[in-house]
Amino acid sequence: MNSIKSYISEHKDRMLNELLELLKIPSISANSDYEKDVIKTAESVKSHLEKAGCDHVEICETPGYPIVYGEKIISNDLPTVLVYGHYDVQPPDPLDLWDSPPFEPVIKETQLHPDGAIFARGSCDDKGQFFMHVKALEYMTKEGQLPCNVKFMIEGEEEVGSESLSWFVPRNKEKLANDVILISDTGMIAKDVPSITTGLRGLSYVEVEVTGPNRDLHSGLYGGAVANPINILTKMIASLHDENNHITIPGFYDKVEELSREERNKMAEAPFSLEDYKSALDIEAVYGEAGYTTNERNSIRPTLDVNGIWGGYTGEGAKTVIASKAYAKISMRLVPHQDWHEITDLFKKHFEAIAPKGVTVEVKPHHGGQGYVTPIDNIGYQAASKAYKTTFEKTPIPQRSGGSIPIVALFEKELKSKTILMGFGLDSDAIHSPNEHFGVWNYFKGIETIPWFYKYFSELSTKA
Ligand code: BES
Ligand code: MN
Ligand code: MN
Repeated sequence: MNSIKSYISEHKDRMLNELLELLKIPSISANSDYEKDVIKTAESVKSHLEKAGCDHVEICETPGYPIVYGEKIISNDLPTVLVYGHYDVQPPDPLDLWDSPPFEPVIKETQLHPDGAIFARGSCDDKGQFFMHVKALEYMTKEGQLPCNVKFMIEGEEEVGSESLSWFVPRNKEKLANDVILISDTGMIAKDVPSITTGLRGLSYVEVEVTGPNRDLHSGLYGGAVANPINILTKMIASLHDENNHITIPGFYDKVEELSREERNKMAEAPFSLEDYKSALDIEAVYGEAGYTTNERNSIRPTLDVNGIWGGYTGEGAKTVIASKAYAKISMRLVPHQDWHEITDLFKKHFEAIAPKGVTVEVKPHHGGQGYVTPIDNIGYQAASKAYKTTFEKTPIPQRSGGSIPIVALFEKELKSKTILMGFGLDSDAIHSPNEHFGVWNYFKGIETIPWFYKYFSELSTKA
């Protein structure tokens, strides 16, 4: 197994170039202008899986974008690992904030990545990360080091809510049957502080529309005499948090899992510098729910944030107008036991209830998903922990993340298996932002670590 290091050094340039090629295709699932590119990316993933040694690869059609499925089954006596990832990416806008074009990958050194980082949309989320698994498979098949059956399922709609995958999974339970699900679509604490993600937050995403008068009005002739939808909307949004930054929606916290003091103390042991956190973001102070630390606020506590707000005149110069409508997009990050459908209902009821006379309010639910927690007493976690111990020479820290991969809870429900989140990105890699990047070191460290997971998982499975 030590041959993984020499395999990497022998094939380094090719492994990097193949990823760069994949990053050139703009697989933006949110924008239908890129439909052809999304499909082209699926085809490219298919051919990479074939070349890496899968015996059977197919592009599975769905009501939306296709799912690439590949497998290498060696023996019924061996455990099966299901690898999940997504080949779609977030829209790159605002384009003018990128230092180089988002779909023309370049490698540049940064302070945290002295060996270089790949700058491109999707480099970390998630093309670069799922591609580590393809390259690890290539090594294992070419060098006769594959100790498990492997299945790959790479989808093209993660960034827009995984609707087609939610359709696909319950219809293909047999095909997807596995002993553990392995995903690299999260991060780790630092290059010298390996961690395994043990929790993901749930999500409820809604759009709200406030309507006042039946047309846009002159703000002098009508101002002060009719409800201004933008004024009202901002007031309603402001009322959703109290002075302690608790969310005011009745029932919102009813099912929130409260962690014990002991668990919170354990969490606080993970290395973290508030000063570095603030200076990385150029902020003077952090902000959030009273009574919780920064790391608690962004992992074990639920949140409500406006993601976009618009209405009225936003063009050049000034136009004196009271808009007829105002809009906002709001995300609520949820924690274990909060049900996203229930929370969406609670939000809708509350938001409609607080609308003053003179406006009407419409709440449109978008996608959502349940949170997830991976227990650390299972062989999947133990195998991952041993794998990091081998390649980082440090035991990884279990850490809950603030992000969401809604499909993970569905995997547990439908396929009855646990998911292990082996992420190799850093928080500073700017996923979803301009100048997204992924460290070259991180990419190869992932490729090096993954085969060890297979080895230990196989060993621990036979013991069980
Ligand atoms: N890979 C991310 C989620 C993530 C990133 C989790 C880092 C933990 C650490 C995923 O692609 C993503 O962006 N998820 C969305 C939700 C989805 C429904 C659009 C999110 O978290 O906003
Ligand atoms: Mn992702
Ligand atoms: Mn994402």
